[in-house]
Amino acid sequence: MNKALRKAIIAGNWKMNKTPAEAAALASSIKSLAAQRDCQVVLAVPFVDLAAVGEAIKDSGIYLGAQNCHWASNGAFTGEISPQMLVECGVSHVILGHSERRQYFGETDETVNRRLLAALEAGLHVILCVGEQLSQREQGITREICAMQVKIALGGVTREQMERVVIAYEPVWAIGTGKTATAAQADEVCGAIRQVVEELYDSSVAQALTIQYGGSMNAGNAQELLDQPNVDGGLIGGASLKGEDFAKIIAAASR
Ligand code: PGA
Repeated sequence: MNKALRKAIIAGNWKMNKTPAEAAALASSIKSLAAQRDCQVVLAVPFVDLAAVGEAIKDSGIYLGAQNCHWASNGAFTGEISPQMLVECGVSHVILGHSERRQYFGETDETVNRRLLAALEAGLHVILCVGEQLSQREQGITREICAMQVKIALGGVTREQMERVVIAYEPVWAIGTGKTATAAQADEVCGAIRQVVEELYDSSVAQALTIQYGGSMNAGNAQELLDQPNVDGGLIGGASLKGEDFAKIIAAASR
């Protein structure tokens, strides 16, 4: 199997941006700007925007995504949202383990694993984020860090469930900084992650796995990144908030 047979997925991570009214407007504009496309598109929006965005993208084939979920299906977890709640809101994809959650909200590889197992159990697709910090890249331990994050996060995930897992390689130093990994750096680490998945499962699971790059991907650099043999899509923050730029990235993935 080669890259052409893997699903190209472009996901917008809106982070904590857009009120429901603003979100509906942006989603409608993306729906029309990206009407012609040949890749999957996911909009991962704030929880309170799910209903408005779900309505705006109805019948467009664009997938509705969330940015986190808890591992329990219900209970005394003030402020949290369960996977089942997301499913009932029409969500198909959830981002887990984003570096901002690890950095600001105490997320660990172990809690990412618990959330991931629960999300898969509930039927969701997961976009699992991994990536090294700048100091770790400088120490030459990028591969080890990413391998460890992938192995712990995927603990207990079955071969069948891997069909609903996407991995996003997001070097922390490239997120929201305007500093993009070079296409060669992105491809190298995405390839290393594919190798780890092959060791954990087998080559067919690894070859079928969609691996995205994320970190300052924009309308100008998307094509070169997406053309790399191991880069099957993008997880886009800043540029996903601008309809026209996001549509250009979708077009780049559709070639
Ligand atoms: P960025 O964010 O595109 O703004 O760097 C990517 C992400 O955090 O997923």
